[in-house]
Amino acid sequence: MSQLVVKIPAVAAGSYAICIGNNILRDVWSKLESDFPHRRKFVVTDSNVVSAGHLKTLLGGREASVFVIDPPGESSKHMNTVVSIIEDMEKGFFGRDSLVVALGGGTVGDIAGFAAAIFKRGVKVVQIPTTTVSQADSSVGGKTGVDSTVSKNAFGAFWQPAAVYIDVATLNTLDETQYRAGLVESVKHALIGDASYFKFLKKNTEAVLDRQSDVLESIAYTNCRIKAEVVAQDPTEQNQRRVLNFGHTIGHAVESASEFKLLHGEAVSIGIIAAEFIAQELGLAKKSRLDRIKDMLKALGMPLVIPAELGKNVLIDLIKRDKKAVNQWPRFVLLKKIGKVLYKDGQWAHEVSRKVIEKTLDRLYE
Ligand code: GLY
Repeated sequence: MSQLVVKIPAVAAGSYAICIGNNILRDVWSKLESDFPHRRKFVVTDSNVVSAGHLKTLLGGREASVFVIDPPGESSKHMNTVVSIIEDMEKGFFGRDSLVVALGGGTVGDIAGFAAAIFKRGVKVVQIPTTTVSQADSSVGGKTGVDSTVSKNAFGAFWQPAAVYIDVATLNTLDETQYRAGLVESVKHALIGDASYFKFLKKNTEAVLDRQSDVLESIAYTNCRIKAEVVAQDPTEQNQRRVLNFGHTIGHAVESASEFKLLHGEAVSIGIIAAEFIAQELGLAKKSRLDRIKDMLKALGMPLVIPAELGKNVLIDLIKRDKKAVNQWPRFVLLKKIGKVLYKDGQWAHEVSRKVIEKTLDRLYE
């Protein structure tokens, strides 16, 4: 056997800008023209975003190639949609000089980002998130993908955006339930990364719920700062990036068991309470901390208990299928205190026995 070594030159350190403002969408296209000259733009959006008028605002009367995902939402988040996007791009003679422009919520960003990651071995994508979830979380960090018939995000790639443009005015068209549920990712960021941000959210809950643009700009900035710090340390989730999954292990199981009747943020709210119950069980947290967190989630109108119709055994089975499970049992991200994640033995996510998880689930039905 002979062997030779292929030396790959060090991958250039990447960076990208996140622009945040109120009513900036109408200026984004000219910014794209100046920031990405000579790149042909291909917009991916969905029918909700079109109805809300955001595509019209972005294009400002210009002609562009647009793919509209319809129906919007998780039911379109599969390979057939990616294939349709890519084939539309091929039919339009798009090449490696393309720029995919993802305009919409988390589903649009995930699908468009994944199509960009695999089209002709990868073309640039910019994210223009229009929902509370996508502005706080999914548009930053480069996770892209679609579901298989068996599980969520079974196909995927880490594909960092070339830029992110956040216009908080786009949140004004979001329905109240979606709007509130998306705010749970902001609470998550405060809990894992910044105690003063938690206090800010508490003090400004009413202004946030009133969608006051200055407060929304401020929380968009803080969410991106906290997330970007983590992603910069561990872009491909080898260890530290797991902190961003705080509340998501049991949260995802509850979301799937509800067949997505519970919104992602609603399920993560229950998952955050679960993580606090686990921390209490392990002697890491006092009840007063749980009460502060509960008050915050309650103020956003989020559920704090598992709906009775979701069976415990189903949840345990789903927990075992968690993407990050080792030997069919996941690791759990836990708080050391508000604003700080427990880091122990070189790990950000920790083993917790099945007995503790079962007890936690029992408490969550109360
Ligand atoms: N939403 C979690 C992450 O981006 O890692």
